[in-house]
Amino acid sequence: MLKSIDCGQLRADHNEQEVTIAGWVNRRRDHGGLIFIDLRDSTGLVQVVFHPDSPDIFATAERFRSEWVVQVRGKVRMRPNGTENPNLDTGAVEVVATEATVLNASKTPPFDVNQDAPVDELLRMRYRYLDLRRTHMRENLRLRHRIVKFIRDYLDDLRFIEIETPILIKSTPEGARDYLVPSRNHPGNFYALPQSPQQLKQMLMVAGADRYFQIARCFRDEDLRADRQPEFTQLDLEMAFVEPDDVIDMMVDLYIKMAQALAPQKELILPVPRLTYADAMSRFGSDKPDLRFGLEISDLTDIVAGSEFQVFSNVVRDGGMVKGFNAPGYGDITRRQIDELVSVARTYGAGGLVIIGLDAAAESIDALTTDHVRTPAKALSIEEIKAIATRVGAVPGDLILIAAGAQPKVEPVLGQLRLNIAERLGLNDRNKLAFCVVTDFPALEWLEDSQRWHAMHHPFTAPQDDQWDLLETDPGAVIAKAYDLAANGSELAGGSIRIHQRAQQERVFAALGYPQAEVDELFGHLLEAFEYGAPPHGGFAGGIDRLVVTFSDTAESIRDAIAFPKTQAGVDPLFGAPSPVASAQLDDLHIAIVTVDEPEA
Ligand code: AMO
Repeated sequence: MLKSIDCGQLRADHNEQEVTIAGWVNRRRDHGGLIFIDLRDSTGLVQVVFHPDSPDIFATAERFRSEWVVQVRGKVRMRPNGTENPNLDTGAVEVVATEATVLNASKTPPFDVNQDAPVDELLRMRYRYLDLRRTHMRENLRLRHRIVKFIRDYLDDLRFIEIETPILIKSTPEGARDYLVPSRNHPGNFYALPQSPQQLKQMLMVAGADRYFQIARCFRDEDLRADRQPEFTQLDLEMAFVEPDDVIDMMVDLYIKMAQALAPQKELILPVPRLTYADAMSRFGSDKPDLRFGLEISDLTDIVAGSEFQVFSNVVRDGGMVKGFNAPGYGDITRRQIDELVSVARTYGAGGLVIIGLDAAAESIDALTTDHVRTPAKALSIEEIKAIATRVGAVPGDLILIAAGAQPKVEPVLGQLRLNIAERLGLNDRNKLAFCVVTDFPALEWLEDSQRWHAMHHPFTAPQDDQWDLLETDPGAVIAKAYDLAANGSELAGGSIRIHQRAQQERVFAALGYPQAEVDELFGHLLEAFEYGAPPHGGFAGGIDRLVVTFSDTAESIRDAIAFPKTQAGVDPLFGAPSPVASAQLDDLHIAIVTVDEPEA
């Protein structure tokens, strides 16, 4: 070994010991005729002192620059009184150098590695090996490791076994496009990278594996968002002979125990509430509600049904709804802030947003007069405003936000506004951890764009026992045995009880409008397996990357939880992927690139 101990391990116990340490020069300071360096390795920093009375070593240290890799031999001693650094684990001691060797020099890094100051993300990703040297990134990687280890130990105790499934497989529809891999030996044929091991784990249940899990890499070619990566990692899990509560209870227990062990600094809100999908949408405008704060949405439809304010009463007459929520203490909002909120509402598809500001000077809601009310909705009567204020729990000084329209639009718009207001009011406290379970998802949703039904979770999810007949008569009303786990407004995990019989699975495919030939081609293997004694089964999968972000105090995006992530555009700036390949490689794969000229405008 080039070192006898790690930098971060040195303590007062090591006083007077000879040690050899090695690492990166985090910082060099020349002070009072001495040279101090902070030497850093993966365990932390320790201060090293170079004296001018050892001229050779001193001269070596004079050459040291940030990020040089050096080895130092020396003696540990207590730092002189008053120079201890209580913020550093090694802050009681220092190493007085007796030998110093440069193991490797470094160019000047394009950004400071020894500071957590913001750096352009493209630059960080281009020099990821430097970015990962930064303390908070190193901590995120360690947290990720500990999460995965915790999961493995927890599941091992419950007699789960980890089984690897292939990466080169046939497409599993999970709603995204597949990444395809051309087959050299079978010209014109392709493997698909798994969007998740869904069908494989179901096969394992047919195979009698009973309790399976895997830390599984998944690949989805979809439009990227802040919390999505084209390849990401799931805890994928499946059990035979279970009912929804068995899976949900285990999932919740695992996540609570993980949070307690790995994010003890966060205030964990217990017990973990359970909401139905309908309830979550109605009260929080989201199927992954952020429950760190209230800002609950109320139904105002009955109050304004007969209002002179026709924007509301017309919506009610046409079968729509009017809902709103209270932003406490936000009544003195500026014109510009109102415009911002209206534009948020527009972005999420609301025709309009009605805002009512209540003057803090009013004594109570009962005492409100029109002079206390700021709103463009002049036709709302003061009695209606008082009733609205009472319903949403507003007091003078508050702001009420109201949207009107069809239910599928109104609730998500208010859900987004709720998050926006929470951000403005600083309610989305990173130190809090609020899990919730959402159940009773609709099985199918209607896609306007493609004019067809789509499986909300995936087509292998079982409808609830009494809902089967609705598949043919009212597909949108079918409730599934599906559940999600959310935390702080992020969807962390999702799962369901699966269909395990061929006829039932075919019924769902028919409701989804799959032609029989396509069902046979895409799912024949699964349907056939179901005919050989498939046990009832169910499970879930949880995103590891998002979980790291949730538990971390510093991760800003999913990219901070992954060693080598892709940009939002799906690019790896370090390796330069994706990239062209040699034409010989294409020839081997029987692939010809055809360039299509853009049609002239
Ligand atoms: P689902 O598609 O809901 O379910 O995925 C499960 C969890 O994986 C995470 N996740 C992602 N994380 C990062 N980037 C992405 N692009 C991404 N997509 C999903 C989320 C999500 O909750 N086979 C089913 C699970 C099952 O039914 O057992 C599935 O994959 O945290």
